[in-house]
Amino acid sequence: MATRKAAFKRPAVRHEVPEGSAPEPADDSLEALREAAKGCKRCDLWRIGTQTVFGEGPAKARIMVVGEQPGDQEDLAGRPFVGPSGRLFDQALEELGVDRRQVYVTNAVKHFKFTPRGKVRLHQSPNPAEQRACRYWLDGERERLHPEVIVCLGAIASKAVFGSKFGLMRQRGEWQALPDGGKGFATVHPSWVLRQRGSEERERAFRGFVADLALLTELDA
Ligand code: URA
Repeated sequence: MATRKAAFKRPAVRHEVPEGSAPEPADDSLEALREAAKGCKRCDLWRIGTQTVFGEGPAKARIMVVGEQPGDQEDLAGRPFVGPSGRLFDQALEELGVDRRQVYVTNAVKHFKFTPRGKVRLHQSPNPAEQRACRYWLDGERERLHPEVIVCLGAIASKAVFGSKFGLMRQRGEWQALPDGGKGFATVHPSWVLRQRGSEERERAFRGFVADLALLTELDA
């Protein structure tokens, strides 16, 4: 008799980790951090998401991009920014001649938070406690990569990197100094661009998004 293959097999380690904690990374490498994050139970989001969606890209990347949290498609694929927001982001990078393969892309929160509505899973913003719990992974990625530049997409990523007083619409597209010697800037989240009502508004929002990201072209080769 034919048996149906499960779409995704949860890593066994998830069940051995006490609630509110996560496995210790085996060493100081980015790979070990990624492996440990698979079993994270630092907040409750591990219960509903398919899997931890960790950052991806070269460990020596000069640029790190931080989004909010994986969406529906990212949750299923286990990779950041592969859905509609990711495609818009790729389009902006392509216009600017920036190769995404050279960029490390991650999120402030590594699990998808949603409410089921019929067959769709509606995105929900992570609450402050969930954002705080996930800082451990973002800080770990930053410590291991030491990127020259951090680009924040949207308010949640911006506050995680530049602090709670950061005003996205006031300070977007401006270089900010970071305490570790690096620098960064913020722009709107691509999902905000996609949510603009008419095609003119969407085009204007996209042009603003590309204009902010153009700061990346100022970097020395
Ligand atoms: N939105 C995000 O912030 N991150 C993703 O990975 C996908 C959509």
